Amino acid sequence: MTRKLFVTTALPYANGPFHIGHIMEYIQADIWVRFQRMQQDNDQQREVHFVCADDAHGAPIMIAAEKAGVTPQDFVAGIAAGRKQYLDGFSISFDNWHSTDGPENHELSKTIYRNLKSAGFIASKTIEQFYDPVKNMFLPDRYIKGACPKCGAPDQYGDACEACSAVYAPTELKNPYSTLTGATPVMKTSEHFFFKLSDPQCVDFLRNWALGDVDGVPRLQPEVANKAREWLGEDGEGLGDWDISRDAPYFGIEIPDAPGKYFYVWLDAPVGYLASLKNYFGKIGRDYDAFMQDPNTEQYHFIGKDIIYFHTLFWPAMLKFSGMRVPNNVFVHGFITVSGEKMSKSRGTGISPLRYLDIGMNPEWLRYYIAAKLNSHVEDVDFNPEDFIARVNADLVGKYVNIASRSAGFIAKRFGGKVSTNFAPENEGFLDNLRSVSNEIAQDYEAREYGRALRTIMHQADIINAYVDQHKPWVLAKDPASEPALHEVCSCLLEAFRILTIYLKPVLPTLAQQVEALLNLPAMQWADINKPLPNGHIVNAYSHLMQRVEPKMLDALFEPPAAEAPAAAPAANDIEDIAPEITIDDFSKVDLRIAKILNCELVEGSDRLLRLTLDIGEAKPRNVFAGIKSAYKPEDLIGKLTVMVANLAPRKMKFGMSEGMVLAASAKDEKAKPGIYILNPWPGAEPGMRIR
Ligand code: MSP
Ligand code: ZN
Repeated sequence: MTRKLFVTTALPYANGPFHIGHIMEYIQADIWVRFQRMQQDNDQQREVHFVCADDAHGAPIMIAAEKAGVTPQDFVAGIAAGRKQYLDGFSISFDNWHSTDGPENHELSKTIYRNLKSAGFIASKTIEQFYDPVKNMFLPDRYIKGACPKCGAPDQYGDACEACSAVYAPTELKNPYSTLTGATPVMKTSEHFFFKLSDPQCVDFLRNWALGDVDGVPRLQPEVANKAREWLGEDGEGLGDWDISRDAPYFGIEIPDAPGKYFYVWLDAPVGYLASLKNYFGKIGRDYDAFMQDPNTEQYHFIGKDIIYFHTLFWPAMLKFSGMRVPNNVFVHGFITVSGEKMSKSRGTGISPLRYLDIGMNPEWLRYYIAAKLNSHVEDVDFNPEDFIARVNADLVGKYVNIASRSAGFIAKRFGGKVSTNFAPENEGFLDNLRSVSNEIAQDYEAREYGRALRTIMHQADIINAYVDQHKPWVLAKDPASEPALHEVCSCLLEAFRILTIYLKPVLPTLAQQVEALLNLPAMQWADINKPLPNGHIVNAYSHLMQRVEPKMLDALFEPPAAEAPAAAPAANDIEDIAPEITIDDFSKVDLRIAKILNCELVEGSDRLLRLTLDIGEAKPRNVFAGIKSAYKPEDLIGKLTVMVANLAPRKMKFGMSEGMVLAASAKDEKAKPGIYILNPWPGAEPGMRIR
């Protein structure tokens, strides 16, 4: 039977670019997927479908889009456009990247909901919910903060506690406040829909799924099962019904037969796994329903430890009671820390994945390093610069790549690239020994014990290096009588290198490709471990396979962007840090002009923007949107002079084209010190004058 695998990583929120935590998750899953793709069952290639998507919906994205003055759709599209450079850069081999706002997801989410409803798993209740009386909207969970009702940690979000992982309703928070306006929220009623997780059938099912065995082995990782056990309680009394609806305004999927009500983002987000697969199958002409109904299909989700609750309770239950296939498992990893420090939400970890690539660091170093530190447990992984340099240089380059550099050169130079593989029994035994660990390594990859797999591989590299030191090819090369011995030793080493490369290929796909080119071989599969290079096979000339890490690269990686560098003298107040130094040439690129405000009006549908008509002496006045509604009445601005950036690329906004930007001052912390102040020149300045 050929295994059919459907594999996903968590769908990243489409409100920002990838950070190193995302990349770590993708590397973990990608290694597993690449390992699976190298396997054959009964001579048949294993079927693997690896997909992801942007998690597009929810209030934070809606609000971020509003702030940027674009539609949520455009906002999300902008984020999506930036994904490829990261995925290609780190060789993450997704088969498809989609969006939870795609039509497949709208359709599938509604189907699941309708099925749940007709099976009696949806209840409606009128609830009291926090409402921001200043902003006039029900407050999304994430926009209410307060102290955790379980552990008392301050400044926790309205849905879950980052200190103790408790999940709760925002109304349970102590001393709540709206993070949008700072106002104390008021209670207002609204009709909401609930998924009846407390239904005894549901509890029964979840106890079996989350705490049960598969083929005599517990399904979930022990740490994950413990969490689930805690949440499910002794008799499942721990599960409350799950509120799956939100009121307009909301960026999401409208609930069937319930105008103005939308699915809570966590309802449709995991459905996005299915939607991405369906979208992909549409592109390649495969039957999605047949695949999902096939009892031999296996479905796995790689996720981080912060979203266990959603994936071990809500998601399997949603699928089960809507009559869909249930995931086989979720694979949970810990978080990446940098030199022992947690990543900050706003500033990331200090390792920017793009910067890593930009300064020319080899992505396979990071893949190797992360793999070496990963196991099947929910443990955090620390990126430590010294450790990184040591592992890459000592193991990857020093132990592994070196084997090729010490043997391939001789084969090319002395033997016309031809290998001689009629080995003496001693050498056959040496290679058999190397092959004999293949099952052990395969099992470790399968079980996501990458660290252990790499330790086994590096132990083999040590044995091979001892063989090099014992046979000393550079000594054999000096004596013409040792020519046959040199040929055999180097051929044997090249074969050993080939096998090691197969072992490492899931982690180092690009390096493996270079080795395939060097060895003149098609893409190597796992089974090729037992198919030695044929006698007389011709390999190509050796060129260096991998550089060492230079410590100065890590300095460059961690160098804080100038704007974030600590100020020389601590600022006495909260004045924003001065931006990095620029030259006069940099400055003169910005074309600032005196502008006359010919007209100014409100923008329907925006509570932030004013539309300005600006004269800078051109034939046609400019249309500019400015986020200054909170500070000025339109009629007070008409006829006044101000300053605009006249050579800024025009920007398409939700409400039309903006053909420039007016300048305004504001405090560093706009919440603490609100106020926006546009500029006004001294008398005598005229529209169109340049400011320099
Ligand atoms: N959108 C949700 C997931 C929906 S899945 C149907 C989400 N997005 S996220 O962008 O915040 O996180 C995406 C993944 O990155 C999650 O699995 C999360 O655990 C993981 N990580 C976030 N920070 C991380 C680290 N510091 N280290 C490793 N993984 C981390 O949650
Ligand atoms: Zn807590």
